[in-house]
Amino acid sequence: MNILLLGSGGREHAIAWKIAQSPKVDKLFIAPGNAGTAQVGTNANIKADDFAAIKDFVLANNIDMVVVGPEDPLVKGVYDFFKQDAALAGIPVIGPSKEGAQLEGSKDFAKAFMMRHHIPTARYKSISADNLEEGYAFLESLEAPYVLKADGLAAGKGVLILDTLEEAKKELGDMLGGMFGDASKTVVIEEFLDGIECSVFVMTDGNEYKVLPVAKDYKRIGEGNTGLNTGGMGAVSPVPFADDTFMAKVDERIIRPTIEGLKAEKIDYKGFIFLGLISVKGEPMVIEYNCRMGDPETEVVMLRIQSDLVDLLEGVAEGNLGSRTLTIDPRAAVTVMLVSGGYPEAYEKGKTIYGLDSVSSDNILFHAGTIGASGLIQTNGGRVIAVSSYGADKEEALAKSFAGAKKIMFDKKYFRSDIGFDL
Ligand code: AMP
Ligand code: GLY
Repeated sequence: MNILLLGSGGREHAIAWKIAQSPKVDKLFIAPGNAGTAQVGTNANIKADDFAAIKDFVLANNIDMVVVGPEDPLVKGVYDFFKQDAALAGIPVIGPSKEGAQLEGSKDFAKAFMMRHHIPTARYKSISADNLEEGYAFLESLEAPYVLKADGLAAGKGVLILDTLEEAKKELGDMLGGMFGDASKTVVIEEFLDGIECSVFVMTDGNEYKVLPVAKDYKRIGEGNTGLNTGGMGAVSPVPFADDTFMAKVDERIIRPTIEGLKAEKIDYKGFIFLGLISVKGEPMVIEYNCRMGDPETEVVMLRIQSDLVDLLEGVAEGNLGSRTLTIDPRAAVTVMLVSGGYPEAYEKGKTIYGLDSVSSDNILFHAGTIGASGLIQTNGGRVIAVSSYGADKEEALAKSFAGAKKIMFDKKYFRSDIGFDL
């Protein structure tokens, strides 16, 4: 079968790497892809949210399945676009409908969904310009720190955590005033939860589901989890505190009610659900839903899936996921992200990357922001290369990834050398 994967990051390279190993695949295309995806498939120069161009490409290349990496095309309705087009309706899209993608596209929608289905999450109130006074009153009823979230997509920057009531009130006003454009016309105010986070990934055909390996990502730029939030500086799987007891609670209190809730509300959802969870004294609560896989978590999750990913994706598409097998590699997997100096603020692109061929075969390199072809590969984003490795335990895997991270060179390269420190 021929598959088209949408996206261009490390997540997509990892998914492409895994898809390419399947005996079921004839041709794999990635749109737009990067220098890494070009090594396991064929890049197509199409933006992941240019639906008209995607349609032409799918029909011209006899694509049998479309796998969606990032949230943008999903929130914009790529699933519905296919469903409603006579020529495309028979081609499965792995990813939720536009309505299902609202779990990520609107924090207000996600919170209300969790309330309706009794899924544990922080107490909250949704505020817009009309009920600002209620927002102030709710903030006054909470204790510091204060959590403010832009309702809509804000490129991962829409969450503010403030130490004082004064700041929180001021930022609430600024957010509603357009700090994140339309995305913050509504703001969700949340109670602050204190605990340790992990990422749980569920694959569902809308009825049955499989839980993929749990991962933890490291979002802050600085060591010791300090400094600005990034897309993610590294990841580790498994996560020791997400043990059988914890995961049984996650299954019973969060995953099942989520799947049952989607079904009850007749929301079409055939794809990945990413649960951003926090363990509060051993009790799991939902921090956020995403309608896609995580990045850089995918760069470790794909390493730990032993079964044929395409067989599982077929199960999602055909509605018989329950009959497919998911086997998980018992080894640990980690990834360390090499980023451009200055990221997540201003950084330069176009730096030549050296040493990609010098790393040991222990390292699996997933390109996140690269351009070019072997001979001349250059940086093309803030996050550049995810250096992934297996190990008997996370220490062994991390030692391999750090060794690889040191061998790859580009001007102003930076990486965190403490990934996994808190587990
Ligand atoms: P989100 O984009 O919703 O994942 O939020 C970004 C980050 O903010 C999360 O990964 C958490 O570290 C933090 N965060 C969000 N909501 C809360 C909360 N209610 N309590 C504590 N931390 C939070
Ligand atoms: N690593 C977090 C995310 O993909 O949103």
